[in-house]
Amino acid sequence: RTVYPFYGKHQAGIITPSQNFMCFASFDLTSTQLDEVRALFKKWTTAAASMTQGLMLGDEPANTNPNLPPADTGEAAGLIPSKTTITFGVGPSFFDSRFGLAGKRPAAFPDLPKFRGDALQSEWCGGDVGVQVCADDLQVAFHAVRNLARIARGTAVLRWTQEGFQRTTAAEPSSGTPRNLMGFKDGTGNPDVNDEEQMKQVVWVQPEDGAPWMAQGSYMVVRRIRMRLEVWDRSTLDDQQQTFGRYRDSGAPLGAHNEFDPLDFSAKDASGNPAIPVNAHSRLAHMDGKTKLLRRAYSYSSGLDLKTGQLDAGLFFICFQRDIRKQFVAMQERLAASDKLNEYISHIGSASFACFPGATEGGYIGDQLF
Ligand code: HEM
Repeated sequence: RTVYPFYGKHQAGIITPSQNFMCFASFDLTSTQLDEVRALFKKWTTAAASMTQGLMLGDEPANTNPNLPPADTGEAAGLIPSKTTITFGVGPSFFDSRFGLAGKRPAAFPDLPKFRGDALQSEWCGGDVGVQVCADDLQVAFHAVRNLARIARGTAVLRWTQEGFQRTTAAEPSSGTPRNLMGFKDGTGNPDVNDEEQMKQVVWVQPEDGAPWMAQGSYMVVRRIRMRLEVWDRSTLDDQQQTFGRYRDSGAPLGAHNEFDPLDFSAKDASGNPAIPVNAHSRLAHMDGKTKLLRRAYSYSSGLDLKTGQLDAGLFFICFQRDIRKQFVAMQERLAASDKLNEYISHIGSASFACFPGATEGGYIGDQLF
């Protein structure tokens, strides 16, 4: 049974393998007192450390006193930890004038620019604090978000939440690359999380990057990307494959055979055109091999869009990186300008969070910042 330690050099939930489910919570702070925020982060740290180990919140008799509301909401009682990870970060607004921390804001953590085609809705954007909870059981993940929100009462309130899923590992014991809701394998081109040197280059903020409190942390970008599934489902297989530059069945690059074959941009199809079209998503996102980030996305489905009667479903895109300017922004500018995938998607929500380094036992999440 895998149990991820909460304490350590890095926060879990970044390079640890993705679990079956996700509950994401974005919070706004209602207190303007930094000591109250500090107290909240201390309580959150203790609670997160317990919940990731599958323990109930509160020391006895906090859950058995008949005259008090129980300390733990109880729906995860008796359940295994389900590989729970809880990853905390602070948003750009954490560095506004309220807490006197503006001077600590890293240059690698800018406000995101408005990208071409953005259709952002404020109810899916931003937040002072972001918490990504992932677990192999949705009830366990929900329990964590609910209890963190409960603990925050008086200091922070939920701003938005989103649940996400992917095929479960039980459904695919070979743990191949999961497919997104467009039916394509998603994650093939990710950097190798077992390659420490590459993780240093791509994911982990380094001490020399200019914000010592973020060293060994990582910047997260979240985009709630709706898919126009009804339109996608009417497009031909050929069109779908040209959109990603990969075969749907195998996940191999067009013109190649196996999923992990390299993208060969000089390969030609039978008519002499590039086998991987110049506006194919993989080709553009490859960034000529020079820029990478780590994707850790989940699918989402949130009922119907009542205005159009169409599914509100798509990709809850999450990525981690060492410098948002050089990685997500550079990549998304390129995709927004010419990605063939843009016909079928629309970016509805957006947020970014500076995810702290891991906490040490006795310390708390964010203690190097405030
Ligand atoms: C590759 C899907 C949005 C960055 C891929 C692949 C698929 C895919 C199927 C090919 C398999 C793979 O390498 O994982 C999607 C869908 C999106 C989306 C459905 C939106 C709904 C984005 C965004 C970014 C991004 C917003 C970053 C700004 C990448 C990268 C690759 C990739 C870096 C790998 C390129 C390489 O091989 O080097 N995506 N993606 N994707 N995507 Fe996306």
